[in-house]
Amino acid sequence: MDGRDLVHSVKAVGFAGAAQGLRTVRAAWRRRRADATGLPRRGAERARVPGQVQEVTPGLGGGVLRFTRSELRIIVTVSGAVFWGWDGAGPEPSYALAGRCPEPDPRAVLEPDKDGGWRVVAERVTVVVSRNGAVEVRTPGGVTLRRDLPPRWWEPVGGGRARWMQRSEVSADARFFGLGGRSSGPRLRDGTYRLWNTDQGRAFAPGDDPLYITMPVQLVVADAGTHLVFHDTSWDGTVALREGEEGAGSGHDRAGMCEMRMDGGPLRCWVIVGTPARVLHAWASLTGAPALPPAWALGHHHARWGFGSEQEVRRIITGYREHGLPLDAVHLDIDHYDAHQVFTVDRERFPKLPALAEELRRDGIRLVSIVDAGVKAEPGNEVYDSGTAHDAFVRDASGQPVRGVVWPGEVVYPDFTHARVRKWWGGLYEERLAQGFSGFWHDMNEPTSFAAFGEPTLPRSARHDLEGRGGDHREAHNVYALCMARAGYEALRELAPRQRPFLFSRSGWAGMQRYGGTWSGDVATGWPGLRASLSLVMGLGLCGVPYSGPDVGGFDGSPSPELYLRWFQLGAYLPLFRTHASLRAGRREPWEFGAEVLEHARVALVERRRLLPYFLTLAHLARRTGAPYVRPVWWGSPEDRALRDCEDAFLLGDCLLVAPVLDPGADRRAVQLPRGLWYDTATEEAYEGPAQVLVDAPLSRIPVLARAGAVIPTRGTDGGLELEVWAPARGRTGAGLVVPDAGDGWEEPEIERYVTRWEGSRVVVEREGGGEPPHPVRVRGLGER
Ligand code: NOJ
Repeated sequence: MDGRDLVHSVKAVGFAGAAQGLRTVRAAWRRRRADATGLPRRGAERARVPGQVQEVTPGLGGGVLRFTRSELRIIVTVSGAVFWGWDGAGPEPSYALAGRCPEPDPRAVLEPDKDGGWRVVAERVTVVVSRNGAVEVRTPGGVTLRRDLPPRWWEPVGGGRARWMQRSEVSADARFFGLGGRSSGPRLRDGTYRLWNTDQGRAFAPGDDPLYITMPVQLVVADAGTHLVFHDTSWDGTVALREGEEGAGSGHDRAGMCEMRMDGGPLRCWVIVGTPARVLHAWASLTGAPALPPAWALGHHHARWGFGSEQEVRRIITGYREHGLPLDAVHLDIDHYDAHQVFTVDRERFPKLPALAEELRRDGIRLVSIVDAGVKAEPGNEVYDSGTAHDAFVRDASGQPVRGVVWPGEVVYPDFTHARVRKWWGGLYEERLAQGFSGFWHDMNEPTSFAAFGEPTLPRSARHDLEGRGGDHREAHNVYALCMARAGYEALRELAPRQRPFLFSRSGWAGMQRYGGTWSGDVATGWPGLRASLSLVMGLGLCGVPYSGPDVGGFDGSPSPELYLRWFQLGAYLPLFRTHASLRAGRREPWEFGAEVLEHARVALVERRRLLPYFLTLAHLARRTGAPYVRPVWWGSPEDRALRDCEDAFLLGDCLLVAPVLDPGADRRAVQLPRGLWYDTATEEAYEGPAQVLVDAPLSRIPVLARAGAVIPTRGTDGGLELEVWAPARGRTGAGLVVPDAGDGWEEPEIERYVTRWEGSRVVVEREGGGEPPHPVRVRGLGER
């Protein structure tokens, strides 16, 4: 580019920027105007509480309790999950449920309790309802896990949609997790968390809230037990949390508190009680098994907003090859679109995309395409014209298509809550498949519309189909991306039936795991951002979304070599391992940070590749059991309070404990170990838990510990499966599961189960039930102890 070109492009960007600025002002005004005329005025409101119980009708799995001013339906289902809904709310329709509501448990009975109250007694849980409508969830042993006070509604005097508030108490020692992807978790401290999927419009850091994925799912962990509570309503709302405090000496305990306020929608919830593993299993059977990514999606991905051309993509891939760095996928961002129009290709800069894709595929590298939700509103844009012909776009209350502003300028938004629109949109993925893309990255689907002021999304009055029920954006907003994911997933299953779809989405809601995963969005480059990116992955996992990961290096700015490396090392142990950054950010290729970083990044990449069979096993287990790959260290012992408060390490499946370095300058770190014997995988030094230990964390690696007795499937040097076995503690046995790779289709591989034990001075590994393992075995941790 010479000087003249530079001046020219600066001017162009300047003019374009100013034009876009004006558009965002206009869009914000339009939004405000649309809501002023399109939303009913609230006027005077009347408060209501349930009153006293009047009449009770037992039914299958529970029954209905009629109060003076409301009614409560309770159903314990065969899966052990409990549903209750006020004001006649039932479990359906629901965007979260994977299918129909599970069958009621006929053994659960509604019977009188003391003081005029009632209770439903089931195998795993007892629900006690007081005569004025407080609802208590108790363990079979009778310990209270949660007490919901009688709810309160506010409804317009002339009738209409009610706002509501539900206050709940939990025990003084309880800790809260979940609520979707939160930057300041995974333990959710005192504060108010909003339930409204939001693009902050800039890179986010801890404390920025809400982000792209919010969901009314909380996991509450206390000495007495763990429970998950899900308020099945997609409206805007807040959850205020306050952890309790145990009374010292003769003082009383102060209970933990949760206060949920919703702008509308049914007051209905699901509660699941049990161990974390059991809770997540029941949650996955309710809201859907996590989609199983193809094996290549568990490798390393390189993305970049602003590759700019085929040559640049080739340059990056050559860089990976020449530096001996494994690479499995390259992602093309919006800059490969023609004038930023979704489902198009800039043919000048990407003249032979299908050929490039084919060439990469031969080298074992897949192409992934970004897919934005907004469609450039310009006649002549084929997607716009076709969407208009299909009446696919969201309209306002006066019947006009709603226009927002995203990268291409003015856009319209498909109404993904309409089955017909999902079908139309899904058909567009055929073009992507023909371009040679193997995976899809949904973006800007909160949905976002840049706004100079006010909220960066559609007007609340915008109309949506909501599966034929009809409604507006207040109800549809939070499920918009979930429905977009459904459109993409269902289409891919039809268009490429022999391949498992690979799809991940910036925004979503409860149940999104059925269609794919997510990533942490535009996390700010900096040490706090590194911490936030771990918080998101852990929090989402506990909400049932096991596949996610951050932009390694952060989205904006330029990380220091040390920060980049520490992020890279963390990313290597997270389900989605992807480097990505903004158009304006510094470079993110591993060789851009000096020879030392390159060497250590290579080690991390090679180790990730070696662990691929383990990641694949974890992906299969997530699908079968709902257990996230990345688990908090308290997963197996939630009663251990020191573990409950540990937020800077995680279990990767059952076998490994990963302790990333999250602070600059550290070369050692403290690790809180769960019970049992653990080996530092680098030094083979053994540590006995529960304990806090100090381990080395030189720049070359982050601490990873293996559980004694673990059987870990790895990729041997010849590319075949090899079992890495960590010696059990003396006198103890070990075990492990392996789900072998059966390709990227739908074949169900048989789970292989192994056991390991000491025989004299030897560690023996066998298939469960006897027999030699059909894979080479490498035993580690045999050193003197
Ligand atoms: C926002 C996404 O979060 C980011 O990952 C992407 O690079 C930009 N949109 C541009 O498409």
